[in-house]
Amino acid sequence: MTTAATYAEFAARETRGVSPSYERLSLAVSRDGEVLARLGTLPPAKRQPNLLFGVVRLLGGPVGDPVAFHDYVVTNWPVVQAEMRTRATQTNEAGRCAILLPVLAALPQPLALLEVGTSAGLCLYPDRYAYRYGDHQIGTGDPVLSCVATGMAPPSGRPEVVWRAGLDLNPLDVTDPADLAWLEALVWPEHAHRLARLRAAAALAAAEPPLLVRGDLVDDLPALAAQAPADATLVVFHTSVLYQVPAPRREAFAELVRGLAGHWIVSEAPDVLPYETLPPPPDATLYNVLALDGTPLAWTRPHGQGIIWFGSPSGPALGFGHGG
Ligand SMILES: C[S@@+](CC[C@H](N)C(=O)[O-])C[C@H]1O[C@@H](n2cnc3c(N)ncnc32)[C@H](O)[C@@H]1O
Repeated sequence: MTTAATYAEFAARETRGVSPSYERLSLAVSRDGEVLARLGTLPPAKRQPNLLFGVVRLLGGPVGDPVAFHDYVVTNWPVVQAEMRTRATQTNEAGRCAILLPVLAALPQPLALLEVGTSAGLCLYPDRYAYRYGDHQIGTGDPVLSCVATGMAPPSGRPEVVWRAGLDLNPLDVTDPADLAWLEALVWPEHAHRLARLRAAAALAAAEPPLLVRGDLVDDLPALAAQAPADATLVVFHTSVLYQVPAPRREAFAELVRGLAGHWIVSEAPDVLPYETLPPPPDATLYNVLALDGTPLAWTRPHGQGIIWFGSPSGPALGFGHGG
């Protein structure tokens, strides 16, 4: 796909109705020869809209007006491109715990959680957040993760977590102001609720920091998994990570995780892992697929704001794990 098409698709499938300013910007960039030419000097993985927009926001540039954005990018290209080359999109969305909870709560407790592509580890606290599925509230406190759930009963409760660890090529530290500033710049402009959620989740994680390990999800997973307590159910999970991983490495990762004693939960784009069958997506916007041990269960909205269940009507089909 060309960079222009990537920006046009980002406008149509990810930002329309979700972030008007990013929809305007991405459409404008898709038609902006000067900005596209500059993006073309970057490696393909570094040309993505979230990275460009996040870097401009981090640098204090304008994202409300496409003309001002164009002028800023063209004038400040040396610093913009330098930041884009060294950074990656590491959006850490605690809200995604709301789409993991139905599966986590149904597994044999207690759980040992191991998240690959963990960013700052904010999805490692599904037992600490509060949730709202329609009128159904689970837990109290801050943040409250709201999720529109369709085709399923709300989860039975929160899981019991006795161990939590995250693996990332570049773990972020929520107690480091520079890392927190980058995480905040990655939250889309109109999403004040997500910014508040990020800050509340970061405060919670700072009070009880998770074990975060710098490493690769293939090379370094076995050693970290070996540290999990044997008397808890090991759950390896990841959300919105595999699109950043080359296809041969994704296959190596899937093979590796299938060989571990435990369960494997995924919420990822439909094209990054092979599924025998998937129902048609609900509409043309971007959905991820929630899967347990390779079996697809639901369509999920990218920030955890919605889940449309199509798996077993009684909830996650347990008991067919691979050894755990
Ligand atoms: C878009 S962020 C998602 C973070 C988190 N999973 C969430 O949903 O909030 C993707 C993360 O995957 C990490 N990542 C990408 N490739 C990786 C790899 N090969 N091994 C470990 N982490 C990786 C990135 O550094 C980044 O922090």
